[in-house]
Amino acid sequence: MFEITKRDGMARMGRFEVRGKTLETPALLPVVNPKICTVPPRELYEKFGFKALITNSYIIRGTPGLRERALSEGLHEMLDYPGIIMTDSGTFQSHMYGEVELTNKEIVEFQRDIGTDIGTVLDIFTEPFWTREQTAASIVTTLERTEEACSLKGDMFINGVIQGSVYTDLREECARKMASMDIDVHPIGGVVPLMEQYRYSELVDVVMSSKAGINHSRPVHLFGAGHPMVLALAVLMGCDLFDSAGYAKFARDERMMFIDGTYRLADMQSLDCDCPACRGITLKELRLLDKKSKTKLIAEHNLYQITRELATVRRYLQEGRLWELAEIRCRSHPALLDALRRLKEYSGQTELSDPLSRDGAIFYTGPESRGRPVYSRYLERLGERYVPYSDKAVVFPESRGKPYSRSYAEAFEKARKAGYSPVVVSPFGPVPVELDEMYPIAQSVFPDIPDSETETESDRLTFLFLEKFGFRNVIEPEQIPDGGNEETDADLLRAKAVARYQFGTGIADVLFKGRIELIKSRKTGKIRNVISDGEHVLSMRAGDGFYSLRMEGAERIVRNVPGTGMRVAVTDDAVPFVKQGRNVFAQFVISCDENLRPMDEVIVTDKNGEPLATGKLFLAPFEIPFMKKGMAVKVRTGADEDRAG
Ligand code: GUN
Ligand code: ZN
Repeated sequence: MFEITKRDGMARMGRFEVRGKTLETPALLPVVNPKICTVPPRELYEKFGFKALITNSYIIRGTPGLRERALSEGLHEMLDYPGIIMTDSGTFQSHMYGEVELTNKEIVEFQRDIGTDIGTVLDIFTEPFWTREQTAASIVTTLERTEEACSLKGDMFINGVIQGSVYTDLREECARKMASMDIDVHPIGGVVPLMEQYRYSELVDVVMSSKAGINHSRPVHLFGAGHPMVLALAVLMGCDLFDSAGYAKFARDERMMFIDGTYRLADMQSLDCDCPACRGITLKELRLLDKKSKTKLIAEHNLYQITRELATVRRYLQEGRLWELAEIRCRSHPALLDALRRLKEYSGQTELSDPLSRDGAIFYTGPESRGRPVYSRYLERLGERYVPYSDKAVVFPESRGKPYSRSYAEAFEKARKAGYSPVVVSPFGPVPVELDEMYPIAQSVFPDIPDSETETESDRLTFLFLEKFGFRNVIEPEQIPDGGNEETDADLLRAKAVARYQFGTGIADVLFKGRIELIKSRKTGKIRNVISDGEHVLSMRAGDGFYSLRMEGAERIVRNVPGTGMRVAVTDDAVPFVKQGRNVFAQFVISCDENLRPMDEVIVTDKNGEPLATGKLFLAPFEIPFMKKGMAVKVRTGADEDRAG
């Protein structure tokens, strides 16, 4: 069973339980050739910390000696490896050398009989140059074989490989059909030639379309991907498992993997590496080693590059900065930059799982950063949920200091007195000042010297915004008339604007009904609590400038806004626990408002819509129906606690 423990972008950090062993994901499985064993499996486990590996059952079955040993001793004993063992089926051999002479039934049963933990169907490798018809026909066979494998697998886990060449609709359909079968992992297959040919933008198409159809409770394995260069991007797109044969293959060819590519030992000018394998050796000494020692050393170096990058990816994922890392990594090769640019076209899909806010600030790495869903979401919500309070605007240039309302305090005050609404042209596009303390506007860092692409786009977006919201009178800061005496309550405007942005206009109106009192922090002067008709409905967070919903606010919404907005309904057995403030687990969720996003405030209700608790959504609504385990909502306050306290 697979449980998501952390997330960022489409990436998941998770725990995958396989027959009593646990694998922390994202994870990479080194490929072990059972005939060669460049690095012994025991060393992979103990020295490098690989808790899972992949080997090839087709080779074992076809090799006299190995076949008998595997059947009598079992695979773990034979390889002397205590971790999780995945086996492949011979599909890759058919891709390399043509037809293999064995049936799906034979190889699946063989894998089961040698004690494989995760076996693989004999899928048909769909080549990127295949026609649509050929691809579609072979998928039918792969699906039939997958059904057959499910019936034969016993207690072995099974890989149901998603194929479909570069045809995105076929990929999605194949994934959807696999989703309803009794498989345990979703590998994405047929991508090795795309990676070998540096067709990374097509790799993005393949991964994103496959992800659109899968069962989200299963880990996704990007079959044949193991170069450190692609890991950040692939994890960002939601791939959980990887495998690398390259570390050993490249080593035999005297090629060293680095984060920015692979280099031939013969061409290298210096050995610029401080990994444990290279430490203390010079380039000259390495070249002079005997073949066997050289291969082993390079293989170990390659493994260290992989483990180090995987650790970096995990750290960025935990810090909520994986977009940044992927953008940095994708600058190591123009073909990867293409991939990043292609990913922008999927912002509708990436936005669905991208969290509403993060703990840290967003760093801009270049115009490609605008492909992150925080950008498109901001513009979309601004367009749909902003309500202007004036038809006069003063347009300010981006300022270094944030929030803008602090760096431009006097000018904004003067503008408001004159009846003008201040709008800042930020790299996100237009920012009406009411929204300037909210994520990601205040929690972002841009270079002082802007690039023309983002600057031009921000100007264009600001123009569209002013037009859409009917600002008839638009001036520059120097043109603000002196001595205005209009009364505006900047705090109340901000309080309402953030609520509309965060919850939508209908819900915001209900929360701001009646007499409003704003409690501000004595130290910072920032809004802390919103009291509406004597009820404390919202608290504003200092970190991301968004609200936490209070139980009184939740009850107000449920009483006044019909429908399912902001709501997550749970089964009867979960009700008493949730009321006491315990978290909501995915398997107890009946329904979830699909407009919600991870980190959104939610109202947990019973099946009749009665409010039980408030909290923050952890999973994306589209994932919840699939998940059998793990937290769906992190509950803040349960109704019973609220009454007690
Ligand atoms: N190894 C690399 N690509 C593939 C694939 O598409 N299918 C299988 N079974 N193994 C692979
Ligand atoms: Zn090294």
